[in-house]
Order: sequence, then C-alpha cells, then structure tokens
Amino acid sequence: MNFPVVRMRRLRRTEALRSLVRETRLHPGALIYPLFITPGEGIRKPISSMPGVFNLSVDEALKEASACAALGIGGLLLFGLPSEKDEQATGAWADDGIVQTALRALKKDRSLDSLVLMSDVCVCEYTSHGHCGVVKRDGDRFEVDNDPSIALLAKTALSQARAGADIVAPSDMLDGRVAAIREALDHNGHDQTPILSYASKFSSAFYGPFREAADSAPQFGDRRSYQMDGANLREAMREIELDLAEGADMLLMKPAMPYLDVLHEARQRFEVPTGAYQVSGEYSMLHAAFERGWLEPERAMMESLLSIRRAGADFIVTYFAKEAARILG
Ligand code: PBG
Repeated sequence: MNFPVVRMRRLRRTEALRSLVRETRLHPGALIYPLFITPGEGIRKPISSMPGVFNLSVDEALKEASACAALGIGGLLLFGLPSEKDEQATGAWADDGIVQTALRALKKDRSLDSLVLMSDVCVCEYTSHGHCGVVKRDGDRFEVDNDPSIALLAKTALSQARAGADIVAPSDMLDGRVAAIREALDHNGHDQTPILSYASKFSSAFYGPFREAADSAPQFGDRRSYQMDGANLREAMREIELDLAEGADMLLMKPAMPYLDVLHEARQRFEVPTGAYQVSGEYSMLHAAFERGWLEPERAMMESLLSIRRAGADFIVTYFAKEAARILG
C-alpha cells in the first residue's frame, strides 16, 4: 500500500491526533537535578558558564530541593566543593564531608521523601591535582594509580550511604571500582544501596563548564588514561558488561546528545535501568544560543530531552530539570 491510499499526514493534522499517537513522553519523575554543594551559609553563587545553576550552601540546597520536590522531579545528584583539597581526597570520604553533611540535612527533612538522593562518587573535586584518583608521579610523567584509588572510592561510597544516599553513582572510570564499592557497602550493612554506574563515560570536552561549577579541572594532564575514547562503541559495551558483572544495578550514559548511538546500543543490549546525563556543555551551548536568540529556548530544551529519551534513557540527569518539569506540569 502506498500513496495516495497511504497519507502519513492524516495523523498529524491536530494536536489531539498527534498526542494520541505520540511514541515517547517525558515526565518530571524521570528527571534528576544536579546540585553543587559548597560550605557556608546563605550562599548561592552563580556559575558563569551555566546560567541558572549555582553553588549552594546546605541551607540553600534544602530550598532548592523543596522546589524540586514540588515540581515532581525524581531525584537529586549531589556534587561537593570541599573547603580543602589534598592528595588523598580526604574531603570525599570524611564523615563530615560536604556531600555527607548535605545528605544528612536532606534526609532529615521528610517533606523531601519523594526525591531519590544520589551522590556522585569521584575524588576529582577533592584532590589537590584534580584527577579522579591517587596520582603517582615520575618527573613530569604521572599516572592515576588504579588499585589504591578504588579503595578511596569504596570509602567514599560507604560514607555517602551512611549519610543517607539512596543511590551511589561512581563516575571515575577506574577499573574494578564497582566491585570494590559493592563489597564495602555489603560488608557494612548497606546491601540495599544500589550502584548507578557511569559505566562508559567518555573523555569529553562537554564537561568543561562542570569543571568551573565543581572546581575540578585537572591541574596537569587530562583524563584520557581513564575516561573512554569517544571513538569506541564496542569498548563502551565491554565496560558496561564488566560493571554489571561487578554488581552495578543501573547505568548512566554520558554525555548524552553527542553519544545517542551508544545510549541506544546499551538500551538494546542490557536489561537494566539506564539513564543518560545531559552534561554541562550540552546545557551551556544551548543556553548560549538562547541568549543570542538563535534557538527557541522551550522547544530546543524539550527536543533535546525528548531525543535522549527516545534513544533509550529511562531517566535523564539534566540542569534543565526544573524548567522542563515546570513545562510538563
Ligand atoms: C566527576 C564528574 C564529572 C562530571 C560528572 N562527574 C567531571 C569530569 O569527569 O571531568 C561531568 C558532569 C557535567 O559535565 O555536567 N568525575
């Protein structure tokens, strides 16, 4: 059967018809909003490259969380800016660390129970050199030392679970971290805490604005010896298989829009809940175009999120979460 019997436009004529046959939908409960927590009180410091995003002290984060809960947003993903950094990333796993303090405050407020509290497990915001693990130096060469680093990540995840994280989300891309985290959680009474693994995180230029937000730019070198090469889809699938074998409960694909094929492939191959992270650079470049009047903000934002969902994301971590939730009602 073909034209003129078939006319595809018949089902596009009115919004009612279009709504009836819509294949993909977004809803606020599948959006996760990242928060950057900073020490102090009453602090709401704008991030220049990310309009509308702030470094928040714990009291301000509580207000932001209430707004998210009221909008029906599914959860928060917490990052921390410690007051001090060192070689061992002490601030990442300290019981009174900045993320742990925020988690306790958020958990205490029962009006926020509808929000799933996720915490990013990585040490780059807490190391003096800005790498995602312990660094071994030899003159001007350096290496991120895998096995001692995953011990720190396990400690970090455990301290976050103790402080009230509902889900821990390792984003470092070192080998064996999921197994190390699972073991630390299980041996310490947290066998019910799920691990959301950024299993195939690519070494991406699109993290640039985040590094301003989280003050986590590496002081030397780059992250290419641990984050993945953007050219490799098969390797990404292998990373995912390994993380699932080590006990990951869920996947977080990242970045989102430049890697929709990777997200789609993961969705086809694996049966676990899979999210995508629309990262800082994806947000900033859209905002830059909004500011110049080059793109229609609402439509471009919703289209970017819909494309990520259509490619296979069950949930989306996005700096647009509040605006999108407002539109979705
Ligand atoms: C920490 C981490 C990063 C992001 C999430 N977790 C930065 C990085 O790997 O350099 C990026 C998020 C974003 O760009 O929005 N390792």
